[in-house]
Amino acid sequence: MTALSSAAPVAVDAPQVLDRCRALVRPALAQAVERLHPWVGEMAGYALGWCEVGGAPAAAPGGKGVRQALAVLGAEAAGAPGRAGVAAAVAVELVHTFSLLHDDIMDGDGTRRRRPTVWKAYGTGPAVLAGDALFALAVETLAAVPGGSGGLRLLSVALADLVRGQADDLLFAARPWTGPERVRPEAYRAMAEHKTGALLGCAAALGAVLGGASPATADALDRAGRHLGIAFQVVDDVLGLWGDPAVTGKPVHADLRERKKTFPVLAALNSPGADARRLAALLESDGNPAEAVALIEAAGGRTAALAEARRHVAAAETALAGAPLEATAAAQLRSLPAFLVGRDL
Ligand code: IPE
Ligand code: MG
Ligand code: MG
Repeated sequence: MTALSSAAPVAVDAPQVLDRCRALVRPALAQAVERLHPWVGEMAGYALGWCEVGGAPAAAPGGKGVRQALAVLGAEAAGAPGRAGVAAAVAVELVHTFSLLHDDIMDGDGTRRRRPTVWKAYGTGPAVLAGDALFALAVETLAAVPGGSGGLRLLSVALADLVRGQADDLLFAARPWTGPERVRPEAYRAMAEHKTGALLGCAAALGAVLGGASPATADALDRAGRHLGIAFQVVDDVLGLWGDPAVTGKPVHADLRERKKTFPVLAALNSPGADARRLAALLESDGNPAEAVALIEAAGGRTAALAEARRHVAAAETALAGAPLEATAAAQLRSLPAFLVGRDL
């Protein structure tokens, strides 16, 4: 495993924390999904990893439930009532699932978590519809919480950021690898904070906000989640180049083929030396992806990406350390960044 876990407190077992949060949220999430049209509900269940196409129980496990855990723990750490954490968790998990359904269509990706993506399995139109339904269900969930308007505001801001990040991610793919129009690492960081960090920040703060936490506490949780999101995205980029598809569940080199401006490539292109120049020439001519990956590594792109992820994990931990949080939940929350970002490396 990983060079990223150095700052993690070891007393808390992060997988156990994730299990506990998933178990806490599952009944309310299932109840929400049951309200959907049965066909749409099946697509949602498939996307959540609960069932196969046709509705039979799933053979493979779903995701880790990072966002729902952040929502539950953020609420607990801020002293919010349990129901606030669960409602927040349901809402962010629904929004996350919605964003992935639509993202796989935008990215043209046919595999996620080792299974066909929803649009591959059910068709593009149905997958768009299922995403819309999940989004609406998330709004309905928050609107039903007494005093939920602060939560709705927070979610709206996160969604606007997510759209901004997705827009940049798509536009960056059409930009050249080199020259004055190239994408610089600072632009990448803003894009990653928006497309991935915003929802993680919202997840961490949402339950606390629903429970009436102070703006300073909500802000610290939001900032921690945003840094975790950037770290998460950078590691997602690394896994897209060097991860084992059997472990990641996604095809390797898809980002390169789509000309996605991922952090390891940008860092490699920014480095001085012959490897970076050879990489630039190879990428501009859409050369062999395996050769490009070797040059990205030789030019230091992988090392730079891991260092970037480590910096954002540390920033997440610092944000949490500065907030007045309940000790047990805060320790569980603090155990997550290093564990999650170190996944599968
Ligand atoms: C997904 O980003 C972000 C959103 C769903 C908004 P990516 O496209 O980089 O993530 P993966 O690799 O498909 O999960
Ligand atoms: Mg994608
Ligand atoms: Mg994408």
